[in-house]
Amino acid sequence: MSNEVNVGLIGFGTIGAGAVEIFNKNQELLNEKTGKKLVLKKVADLDITSDRGVKIEPELLTTDVNEILNDDEIDIVIELMGGYEPARTFILKALNNGKHVVSANKALIAKHWEELIDTATKNNVRILFEASVGGGIPLLTPFNEALSSNRIDSIYGIMNGTANYILTKMTEEGLDFDSVLKEAQEKGYAEADPTFDIEGHDTAQKLIILTKIGFGEYVPQENFTVEGITKITPTDINFANNELDYSIKLLGIAKKINGNLEIRVHPTFVPKTHLLSSVNDVYNAVYLVGDFVGPVLLYGQGAGRMATASAVMGDVIDIVLNPEKEINYGPKTSQIAKVKKIEDLNAKYYIRLTAVDQPGVLYKVGEVLKKYNIGIESMTQKGNSDKQPVPIILVTHHANESDIEKALGEINNLDVVKGETIKIRILD
Ligand code: HSE
Repeated sequence: MSNEVNVGLIGFGTIGAGAVEIFNKNQELLNEKTGKKLVLKKVADLDITSDRGVKIEPELLTTDVNEILNDDEIDIVIELMGGYEPARTFILKALNNGKHVVSANKALIAKHWEELIDTATKNNVRILFEASVGGGIPLLTPFNEALSSNRIDSIYGIMNGTANYILTKMTEEGLDFDSVLKEAQEKGYAEADPTFDIEGHDTAQKLIILTKIGFGEYVPQENFTVEGITKITPTDINFANNELDYSIKLLGIAKKINGNLEIRVHPTFVPKTHLLSSVNDVYNAVYLVGDFVGPVLLYGQGAGRMATASAVMGDVIDIVLNPEKEINYGPKTSQIAKVKKIEDLNAKYYIRLTAVDQPGVLYKVGEVLKKYNIGIESMTQKGNSDKQPVPIILVTHHANESDIEKALGEINNLDVVKGETIKIRILD
């Protein structure tokens, strides 16, 4: 790279504007850190007229992405448009044209990992995506640098700010899911269509990236269980917090057990003594355990304009400083013998079912659990006077998920059981 390094930005949205702001405010620092003159040469977006709240010279703006992709003077392309296409095509073209790429596009990276990394390798350029997982929190870089000498044993992450905000507010205010989601949307903490966040897909994409980097194993989303938080009720929150000593968190879990990998995303009862239990509101955190370093907690803002732009610009600086660095995305050889099926999980479970309030109900439920050898740690039924169906809460001893599933299938068929039964896995 010459003494002047030119950067092209594709996508002038929230994070793109954040990156421009860092150029505006920290230009001197960027130059000092890289020892070069770092120049934002072009910004491409279909909309170049709306005010993004940052200063930008109008001649930098273009609606034609090829002004970046085909410009031989541009060394680094920042892709912040999101989505699969045309982002994938643009990134591949940038890499094939010999440009380094920085992206925050977790969906694309999680899905097209091999193609993107192979294309970068083939062209002797780098593709970095620190901002794709945990926004501003340094998450991928530590795996590849300070933690490199470790084999990773486990990764537990709260990686979706929207879901964490909703669960926190449900806990603090005793409100139901729909009311809190509405409030979150009004405050801008949840999208108009929040499906991706609340159904766990966003967490799953981030977990795919972390699992590849941590364990060298690429697991596509269709190969693991992903459950969201939409079925959590105030009854569950209240029971977890007040009758037991747990918080409910949406966790992405990737964990090595006897050489095999457990990988899953679901709401989880997290003991209040665990550090992840106190990660609240829109904050994210990843708790990992390495074989030598032991437990490490990485905590911070997992989203937001400036925090995410901070990670993007960190990658840009890394590329300027180390343009030749061999691509290092975790262990080259997978550390995993096989990916376990969720049916083989062994855990404790919280189970909430709804049943008519009459003598013999608990006996019938207990009979089914006994048939599948599921031990009960506690069983609670709060009766009412008007004989309406009531929640029955069970906490099991360790049991196999396949037995739990079979038992719940039979319990749901009991004539005394009404409505949907839900289970929440409990973190050991
Ligand atoms: N939508 C994500 C969240 C942020 O709510 O955490 C971007 O990954």
